[in-house]
Amino acid sequence: MSNRLEVRNVSKRFSMGGVLSRRFVNAVDDASFTIDLDRPEIFTIIGESGSGKTTLARMILGLELPSSGEIGFAGKTVSHKVGRAERLDFMAKVQPVFQNPFEAFNPLKRIDRYLESTARRFLKLSERSELDRAMDGALQKVGLSLAEVRGRFPHEMSGGQLQRAAIARALIPNPPLLVADEPVSMVDASLRMSIVNLLRNLRDDLGVSVIYITHDLATAYYISNRLIIMQRGRIVEMGDARTVLDDPEHPYSRLLKASVLSTEDAGAGKLATDPAMVTLANELVGRPGSLQPRPDGRLVRIYEDAR
Ligand SMILES: Nc1ncnc2c1ncn2[C@@H]1O[C@H](COP(=O)(O)OP(=O)(O)OP(=O)(O)O)[C@@H](O)[C@H]1O
Ligand SMILES: [Mg+2]
Repeated sequence: MSNRLEVRNVSKRFSMGGVLSRRFVNAVDDASFTIDLDRPEIFTIIGESGSGKTTLARMILGLELPSSGEIGFAGKTVSHKVGRAERLDFMAKVQPVFQNPFEAFNPLKRIDRYLESTARRFLKLSERSELDRAMDGALQKVGLSLAEVRGRFPHEMSGGQLQRAAIARALIPNPPLLVADEPVSMVDASLRMSIVNLLRNLRDDLGVSVIYITHDLATAYYISNRLIIMQRGRIVEMGDARTVLDDPEHPYSRLLKASVLSTEDAGAGKLATDPAMVTLANELVGRPGSLQPRPDGRLVRIYEDAR
């Protein structure tokens, strides 16, 4: 059976407001890509705030149903209502890591108890020694140990340690895929690279694929194999991370790259992005266009009537 995550023409439309003032938002519009879990990779989703990254992640995790299109995992469609056993099996294989570890953990619950309930639920363990072994194994993978964590409450750990513990929890069922939604944005800058390196090691040493959602082009460049760039719900560019980020082609991708502030520019007091670039990127919002392949293997959204 194909060991792949397949996102096929997935869209999500939210309706907002009351009966008389109903408005619709196309949070995700016709997204398609495949991740081959037999070839572990870090697949990054980049885009401005509101571009649909979290909505796409929530659909992949099964927390939200697509309005249209479907998501397949290991040959089965998972984006529709499925039975409880099947759902638990899927949840074990595609595990989330959230942005704020302090929100992911219940502040009144000891961290080891939280890990333990995950081990009971997904691994069906109940023996004390087996539970401890599963928890310690997962914690070791992230550079912690059960001895360090046992009995501690979330506020007794640093943000970086707690995010590691959250990743350990996600690893308990031995998932082939993690979906990490801005996993380092709430972590102190000095600890960020250690978490980013941890994700890379999970890929390289344990063969775990990671969907990594970020605003940060530097870490994306550093750890991603492939990436997609999203603008207002649409994928505008997709391809090998370095190919795309070295020389972005879509006007919005170019704007993103140009908006990264270098210390040189800051030192020279040059803080504004070229207004023409901003205008060009914004003009394309709302125009469908179509993703077209380029000779270097990337896909770029092209607009028929564009200059
Ligand atoms: N439950 C919801 N109901 C209505 N609209 C929603 C809902 N969730 C998201 N949206 C809208 O869908 C769009 C995409 O939101 P989403 O949270 O996916 O963006 P994002 O790329 O994750 O942004 P950020 O970088 O700020 O986290 C936004 O316009 C948002 O307001
Ligand atoms: Mg988000």
